[in-house]
Amino acid sequence: MKTLVTGGAGFIGGNYVLTMVPRYPDEEYVVLDALTYAGNLETLKDIMDAPNFRFVKGNICDRAFVDQLFAEGHFDYVINFAAETHVDRSVEDPGVFLTTNILGVQTLMDACRKHGVKRYHQVSTDEVYGDLPLDRPDLLFREDTPLHTSSPYSASKAGADLLVLAYHRTYGMDVTISRCSNNYGPYHFPEKLIPLMISRALADESLPVYGNGANVRDWLYVTDHCNAIDMIVRRGRSGEVYNIGGHNEKSNLEVVRTILKALGKPESLIHFVKDRPGHDLRYAMDPAKIEAELGWKPEYTFETGIRKTIDWYLNNREWWEHIIMGEYQNYYAEMYRERN
Ligand code: NAD
Ligand code: TYD
Repeated sequence: MKTLVTGGAGFIGGNYVLTMVPRYPDEEYVVLDALTYAGNLETLKDIMDAPNFRFVKGNICDRAFVDQLFAEGHFDYVINFAAETHVDRSVEDPGVFLTTNILGVQTLMDACRKHGVKRYHQVSTDEVYGDLPLDRPDLLFREDTPLHTSSPYSASKAGADLLVLAYHRTYGMDVTISRCSNNYGPYHFPEKLIPLMISRALADESLPVYGNGANVRDWLYVTDHCNAIDMIVRRGRSGEVYNIGGHNEKSNLEVVRTILKALGKPESLIHFVKDRPGHDLRYAMDPAKIEAELGWKPEYTFETGIRKTIDWYLNNREWWEHIIMGEYQNYYAEMYRERN
């Protein structure tokens, strides 16, 4: 069995191969990643020399390159994690989101068709459903909730989902889609809420909370997401969408306060800043389908997962300090200049 994991030098794809390469020593994993600002080979160092692992640098939008890789690779499965993923960046510059997140998916699926790949799995997001009101805790996203996107990022992911389902219906391609809630855990790029707040709190820097901090996200520890994808790829039904989430809804303010408490830092670090345009109010997943069909259950609660995550950031400073000391400094200054 041979699997191509695209975007495997990023946060979730990295955790995926770090989990699966040792778990399935008789199966081969190839990571294809363009190493954009979000890709990091440091993340893969523990498996780089594993006999069942190989890293290839390349862009999923490069047709000739992708075709050649598939011609030589003879992949059974393709799992696509590669994407531009940060909502705030998509507000500043949507173009690259459409290119990678939609045209890149087309390129990969065309190669799957041409080279007889057994299954294409698209890693999608709960953000394709838009948002839910804060005062209706009874409402959750189900797989048949209409797509209704808010940001260029979520619109590009929804476009990709529709294209994947169209390739299934039109060409009979074997595809699956997973839509997961917000992930957190090791190797999370420090532009995203949880690692941003941990790294800034450790440096006693102000913590920029958008709006009033009441927006709610449904948090899932990253390896719980990886295990769900592994189950879907092996046992999920072709043409189906599976929602993934662990019923861990928290407001942004609750998340930030939890981090401050765990690090012994004062709440005076919290700084309310200008809101994100089009900011989704609440995400909440109904994972009943994957639980019933595939027997998936998350291993971590928010409390156990956030503790493990904070410990990882405390014990792996080198990984994230490299990032925040580089080009990232300019990003932070630019992105947050107008919010203050
Ligand atoms: P990430 O930004 O950490 O990593 C993305 C990876 O893709 C990076 O390694 C980057 O180098 C690579 N990449 C980007 N453009 C590429 C291209 N054109 N060709 C090849 N590689 C390219 O993202 P992540 O948080 O790990 O997210 C992975 C996937 O999961 C994405 O598809 C995202 O939409 C989805 N998702 C993320 C979350 C979350 O909370 N982070 C939740 C649900 C779904
Ligand atoms: P983020 O990690 O960007 O994920 P997403 O927007 O995909 O859910 O943001 C999570 C939540 O945290 C979201 O409601 C926006 C908020 N947020 C802040 O309040 N301050 C910040 O500096 C960032 C990056 C996010």
